[in-house]
Formats: sequence, structure tokens, C-alpha cells
Amino acid sequence: DGGDAFVARLLRWFDSHGRHDLPWQHPRTPYRVWLSEIMLQQTQVATVIPYFLEFLQHFPTLADLAAADNDAVMARWAGLGYYARARNLHATAKRCVDEHAGDLPRDLDALHALPGIGRSTAGAILSQAWNEPFAILDGNVKRVLTRYHGIEGFPGLPAVERPLWTLAQAHVDHVPAGRMADYTQAQMDLGATLCTRSKPTCVICPLQEDCVARRDGRTAELPTAKPG
Ligand code: ADE
Repeated sequence: DGGDAFVARLLRWFDSHGRHDLPWQHPRTPYRVWLSEIMLQQTQVATVIPYFLEFLQHFPTLADLAAADNDAVMARWAGLGYYARARNLHATAKRCVDEHAGDLPRDLDALHALPGIGRSTAGAILSQAWNEPFAILDGNVKRVLTRYHGIEGFPGLPAVERPLWTLAQAHVDHVPAGRMADYTQAQMDLGATLCTRSKPTCVICPLQEDCVARRDGRTAELPTAKPG
């Protein structure tokens, strides 16, 4: 329902100010969403885009990727770094062929069990590819949630991460049907453009009215830094 101002405001902001022209959004297929999420795990959007397009030229489908030589896959990844991602990508493609009838599974636990897919990436895939109501919790979302709710403690700690997942999923329960893909992208876009690590642009943030960090002048202290 529309009973969560966080969700309603974020979606309205996304419609006019979010990114709608990213290559993995057109078309938003499971294979393209998964590939983009793995590339985006440690690499900026602007760097990923040409690699993403080139990779798809060589491996247009999950079946093409699964059937490719590992050397050919690694060659298309060259320059992106964090090469374990490419090895995991290829291993996951082969496992989808062997264990999931050639498709990415539409199931949180089955996705999470595949190489290179953590809980947040699994949520990013399910929400963007199928509009399934699963939360994400990457660095951007941790920053938005710790500031908005005023959550103390380093978000890398399980004792902080656990309540953040609970808050993230509670918001998701208010996302209208068919809008999960946009909601997931909206959080990433807000974290990347306005709710930045240093000097966030609170004056034009759609969430400023109810943001605890904004209210208390504590955006520089939240999220809490990693303990020394
Ligand atoms: N980082 C991870 N996933 C992303 C996405 N879909 N858009 C922008 N940045 C991201």
C-alpha cells in the first residue's frame, strides 16, 4: 500500500530524477540484470556500460556463456578487475544449465547458493528481473537507511546488518505491485547521486522531511565508520 512515505517519495523521485536509460534496463531480462549486477559489485556504472555491451555481443545468452571457453570469458572481462567475479560468472552459467534448466532460478535461496551471488545481489536480481518483493542491502542502501532511520554502529557488523535487513524488507512490503524493479534502482540512484558518502545534497532529497541524520545534522557521522 502507500502507507510508507519512504517508498512513495522514493518512487515519485525516481520517476522524474532516477536513471531510466541504463543498458540493462532495456530489456530487463534475468541474464542481463544478473550480468550487470556482478559487474557493478565493485565497478562504477560509467566503467561497466561498455564492458556490459561488449560482453553481450560475445555471449548473447546464458547458454552462450555456459558453453564458452573460460579463456574467452576471462578475455572479455580483462580490464574490469576482481577476476574472481568472472570465474564465478562462468561457473554460475554452467550450473544454471546443469541444475536449473538453463535459466537463473527465480528463488532467493537457489540464487544465493550460486557462485558470486550474495543475499543483496540475489535480491537485486529477483526485484529487477521479475519485480519480486525482495530487499537489497549494498553500500548505497546501508548509507540511505542508517541516515534515514538514525541507525548507529558500523553496518558491516552482523549486529547492525541484521536490523538493517529487517528495515529494508519492511519498506519493501509497501512497494506497489510491478514497481520493485524501479524501487531497487531508485535506492541505488539516490545513494549514488544525492545521499553520497560526503556532502550529501539533502536540500533536494525526497526523504529530507523524515531523515533522522538530516534532522540532527549528523550526515557526516552516519553511517558509523568501521571501528579502528
Ligand atoms: N550498483 C549495483 N547495481 C546497480 C544498478 N542497477 N544501478 C546502478 N548502480 C548499481
